[in-house]
Amino acid sequence: MSLFNVYPLFDIKPDTAKDVFIYDEHGVKYLDLYGGHAVISIGHSHPKYVYNIAKQINKIGFYSNSIQNPLQKELASELVEASGCNNYQLFLCNSGAEANENALKLASFHTKKKKVIAFKNGFHGRTSAAVAVTDNSKIIAPINAQQEIELFDLGDITGVTTALNNNDVCAVIIECVQGVGGLDESTTSFYKRLHDLCRKFNVVLIADEVQSGFGRTGDFFAFQKHKITPDIISMAKGMGNGFPIGGILIHPKIKASFGLLGTTFGGNHLACTASLTVLEVIKTEKLQENAKVIFDYFKKKAQSLPHLKAVKGRGLMLGLEFDFPISELRKKLIYKHHIFTGNAKNPNVLRILPSLTIQKKHVDIFFTALKTEVL
Ligand SMILES: Cc1ncc(COP(=O)(O)O)c(C=O)c1O
Repeated sequence: MSLFNVYPLFDIKPDTAKDVFIYDEHGVKYLDLYGGHAVISIGHSHPKYVYNIAKQINKIGFYSNSIQNPLQKELASELVEASGCNNYQLFLCNSGAEANENALKLASFHTKKKKVIAFKNGFHGRTSAAVAVTDNSKIIAPINAQQEIELFDLGDITGVTTALNNNDVCAVIIECVQGVGGLDESTTSFYKRLHDLCRKFNVVLIADEVQSGFGRTGDFFAFQKHKITPDIISMAKGMGNGFPIGGILIHPKIKASFGLLGTTFGGNHLACTASLTVLEVIKTEKLQENAKVIFDYFKKKAQSLPHLKAVKGRGLMLGLEFDFPISELRKKLIYKHHIFTGNAKNPNVLRILPSLTIQKKHVDIFFTALKTEVL
């Protein structure tokens, strides 16, 4: 049977991985500055992660959400400690799209309205409502196009205000730092006004932290820089360091009732163990602080690069915007220099999403390679 051919693949077969490096079946070593799309947060095969998951699977790997699972409560309290987001309620699922799907659904249940405001160049996943609020017509099937969505430019507070005045909006969903779109971020004043408008019009503000959360930007969540309190915060990617887990933090004004949300696999014992280990390692190895230190170093190294228009993003959610399309450069980085990087919707942006354990010496390897290719 053939695979359903939806992924354009690089011809590399990772066989083993350790921290920021990947090794193929011939033992060739690759520097991973992509983190499997911002997923690897504490490094590949971190010893604590391997140990804890192995120990947990020897006890119990999975049972359904119809029984008590104390690991979920432990994860909720560790999340409060790591993020400082008190008083939220936690619902666990399996992916970023699912997190946003549940967030949008809850917003609609809560407000009894159905229109959603989202932003141009935003990406929120591929399930029904999540894909409908994503700015990419190629991945929106007719069945998804029935959702009522309005897209605005990031920063267009006037447009959003006009739309909210109609009182038919249940949610505004936003990535404070856009990932797939190309690392754009608006001003603190915009995020604060958006937050206040949502409160005024009884609209649920959803911060999509699927890519930017779990310390990647140097803050635990990217929105925290702007001192706002979203009603729902969606998480996935770095949350499990590769083990599939997603979740939403839900403001206490949104009330739960039995059966309102549900999932078979969400919050299982292994997923919780993976995420608890991620939180422990972020704390003990001071990885949020490392994200800031490496960001400063990265910016300094980038200063002397020719053809560079901007260093975009923050922490370890970064983009190098050149004055040329980066697709050929990316291929050279992979095949000639053995360095994984990412692309973005903006064709001139090379995306850098490494493990938060990355060190200055790894950044040096990258810039040495870049200097031989960008002249
Ligand atoms: C900001 C953001 N939201 C949601 C998603 C969807 O996550 P998943 O692929 O786990 O469904 C992504 C994936 O890239 C993302 O970057």
